[in-house]
Amino acid sequence: MSILVTGGAGYIGSHMVLSLLEHEYDVVVLDSLVNSSAEALRRVESITGKSVTFIEGDIRNRALLDQLFTEHYISDVLHFAGLKAVGQSVEQPLRYFENNVGGTLTLCQAMDAAGVRTLVFSSSATVYGEVANMPIHEGLPTGSPTNPYGRSKLMVEEVLKDLAKGDSRWSIALLRYFNPVGAHESGLIGEDPNDIPNNLVPFISQVAIGRRDVLSVYGNDYPTPDGTGVRDYIHVSDLVDGHLCAMQVIARKHGIGIWNLGTGQGYSVLNMVQAFEKASGRDVPYRIAPRRNGDVAECWADPSKAEHELGWKANRNLDAMMQDTWRWQKQNPNGYNLE
Ligand code: NAD
Ligand code: UFG
Repeated sequence: MSILVTGGAGYIGSHMVLSLLEHEYDVVVLDSLVNSSAEALRRVESITGKSVTFIEGDIRNRALLDQLFTEHYISDVLHFAGLKAVGQSVEQPLRYFENNVGGTLTLCQAMDAAGVRTLVFSSSATVYGEVANMPIHEGLPTGSPTNPYGRSKLMVEEVLKDLAKGDSRWSIALLRYFNPVGAHESGLIGEDPNDIPNNLVPFISQVAIGRRDVLSVYGNDYPTPDGTGVRDYIHVSDLVDGHLCAMQVIARKHGIGIWNLGTGQGYSVLNMVQAFEKASGRDVPYRIAPRRNGDVAECWADPSKAEHELGWKANRNLDAMMQDTWRWQKQNPNGYNLE
């Protein structure tokens, strides 16, 4: 039996594949490499000494999926494949809905036809929209995400809820990630944004290594302790552990479950800058810039449902997140680009 990891060459997916191999699972990766490099999987193989079956292809390709499910005996699908650049989703909404929503529909249809009905989906805290009181727990209704990317996640959640309701043979986990950061402790795999990073930690890390001059801090007039935005940053390895726990739980139970994957601790942008300077021993120059459209003041999880029901808790602290990010950046100043 193998686990199919869609998007397994990407940032979170590659860490997942590594962990699955370490836990003696056989893994098949399906990835179009639209936002990743096959080098990540080569490195996963060299860290683990195990091999991955890699299929370069698209989740929207039904014939390819049918062939994959015929050729490989798949028990579970971990579905990471998706486009995730918020700004790009505003400019290219059709591409985002087609890829993220259409792609997931095709994947589920192929799974159903093959009789594979165990699915873990990468959702996001963005589905909560703007929430008045922190922390955010799963009992809150979903809100209105401020961009097409976020809406694509919400739409997929709705589709999967209907699917589980309509056919009791499905076992589905919707995992709502807060802000994944960090890298594997080897420093061999990590986040490798193609363009100028949108997200805070990759940007800080590129400033520290000298690829960018200065960090723009988007707003210092939020109603937060230092005026800058507060988020729940979670180490990617903790996030991956959460998936392993969710897989165990849904293997025993049909239906759909929703879990936040966060630490329950919020840090401000300036806290993050300081923590990175400490981990790297480098200065991270910054300037205060206007607020970024669509940003909320604060967002952090109540992770207690995952702790009670999945037996999972994040246990890597901010220092570990920053040290691991820095090790990856230092060892790979140009990411997977080997030139
Ligand atoms: P990533 O871009 O590094 O990985 C996504 C992978 O999916 C890439 O390797 C890409 O090539 C692949 N892909 C995209 N569309 C595809 C398609 N149609 N067919 C096949 N492969 C395709 O992103 P990530 O940070 O690893 O995110 C993984 C998942 O987690 C995504 O679904 C993302 O939306 C979700 N998520 C990420 C964050 C975050 O901050 N990183 C937060 C919440 C949710
Ligand atoms: N920020 C800056 N400067 C930057 C980048 C970010 O000040 O150059 C600030 C933002 O304003 C925010 C915080 O840093 O206060 C975090 O921003 P990120 O872009 O790193 O993360 P977001 O919380 O905006 O969004 C992330 C993912 C979304 C996902 C969301 C919730 O990018 O896809 O977490 O899971 F939906």
